[in-house]
Amino acid sequence: MAGYILLIFRCGKCFILFIYTFLFIVKFNSFIVVGPSKPVVTYVGEDVVLPASLSPALNAEAFEVRWFTTDIMTPELLYINYNISRQSDTRRTLSIDNLKNRNVSLIIRNVHVSDDHLYRCLVYSGQREEETQVSLTVEGQFLGAQPSISMSSTEGQKTRLECSAEKWKPQPEVTWRDMNGADVTSQSTIKSERDSEGLLRVSSVLLVKEEYNVFSCLMRSKAPKIFSLPGRIQTNLRHYSFIVVSPSKPVVTYVGEDVVLPASLSPALNAEAFEVRWFTTDFMTPELLYINYRIRQQSDTRRTLSIDNLKNGNVSLIIRNVRVSDDHLYKCYVYSGLREEETEVSLTVEGQCTRLECSAEKWNPQPEVTWRDMNGADVMSQSTIKSERDSEGLLRVSSVLPVKEEYNVFSCLMRSKAPKPDWHSGLGIYSTSLIVWH
Ligand SMILES: *[C@@H]1O[C@H](CO)[C@@H](O)[C@H](O)[C@H]1NC(C)=O
Ligand SMILES: *[C@@H]1O[C@H](CO)[C@@H](O)[C@H](O)[C@H]1NC(C)=O
Ligand SMILES: *[C@@H]1O[C@H](CO)[C@@H](O)[C@H](O)[C@H]1NC(C)=O
Repeated sequence: MAGYILLIFRCGKCFILFIYTFLFIVKFNSFIVVGPSKPVVTYVGEDVVLPASLSPALNAEAFEVRWFTTDIMTPELLYINYNISRQSDTRRTLSIDNLKNRNVSLIIRNVHVSDDHLYRCLVYSGQREEETQVSLTVEGQFLGAQPSISMSSTEGQKTRLECSAEKWKPQPEVTWRDMNGADVTSQSTIKSERDSEGLLRVSSVLLVKEEYNVFSCLMRSKAPKIFSLPGRIQTNLRHYSFIVVSPSKPVVTYVGEDVVLPASLSPALNAEAFEVRWFTTDFMTPELLYINYRIRQQSDTRRTLSIDNLKNGNVSLIIRNVRVSDDHLYKCYVYSGLREEETEVSLTVEGQCTRLECSAEKWNPQPEVTWRDMNGADVMSQSTIKSERDSEGLLRVSSVLPVKEEYNVFSCLMRSKAPKPDWHSGLGIYSTSLIVWH
């Protein structure tokens, strides 16, 4: 400009010509920076050009080109004095050759998710400053961590399942299914928040009824390219109430037999995913431990349970080839993951082949039967009784008492219940004694 100012003093008559030239130069120096109207979309790992050019087509080699995001003083790239003088990252560059052809585009190599920004391109010609904006959208190919499902406190009658996973980009599609495969996603809510790397922590919440079910949560990338395996997880919802039911009376069996100590869940939940622990005195040294879908411990191979029956809530213990030493009070502990319930089953093992039968014919009505041992103790409760009618309509009564393999004397008494016994029952009282001595 100085040259022209000098000209004014030397050549007053040239003034008009000069004005014309001056305006021409001002006009020549006026430009705008043109960027794309739409965001530039790219994928992680690619190289991308944020296009920007001068209009009209000026040579920008002598200009200052400053690309920045938020802070003009810490540019992503600064081209000044015919040189790239600053780069926030060596992945950012521009083509100095292309500057001649008005092309001030920013090149970003090996795009990261964190490059997702609104970029501003400021071009300074020495007289004019013009700016444009280019938005870069980085479509993450980030299939984040596998989602995990957690269960938390009940909200009213509902249980809250939260399926969450980190490092996703873009937000994945989340699908919830129940154990029948039904899509229950519409009942869920989803939210995501950005971490410091610009990736998303995605979390979806499903409120479910407190009952047995299995829910799976699937997160699937919406991006066309997939870099890792889709995240998928299935979990058991184990938050529901149950009790373990067992017989109130002892289970009585004989040496050498197989016996079932019955125990079942009420309601009849599928116990396959549960822990089932049978023990006598010490919880930590179980007779049988079923956990993680298999039998992990047996105090003795004669103890087992039917894994097939667990589906129906049947957690019974089977003891094969019973021994006298199996005579115990057994405890059955069932743990669903959230609830633990316990029951007891008493096993009484009677000595082998020692079944005393006391029988008599021609009774009517059925008499009272009493068994006593040699100490006079009433052992009736361990016996069974049955009767059958003969052709005359009178009863053949028989009572069986299983007894242990030890010295004893048992007596069996049958007594008419009728206040005035008829002639069939004679005195109405019969007694018999047996000596058991193995
Ligand atoms: C360009 O800038 C770099 C870094 O500031 C410097 O090392 C280099 O000498 C400069 N080149 C020219 C030609 O000015
Ligand atoms: C501008 O420069 C970039 C980077 O060198 C190049 O990829 C792009 O094609 C150029 N644009 C035009 C319109 O020439
Ligand atoms: C439970 O399982 C045991 C052992 O398999 C079986 O003997 C028993 O009949 C089952 N009980 C029911 C009610 O199905």
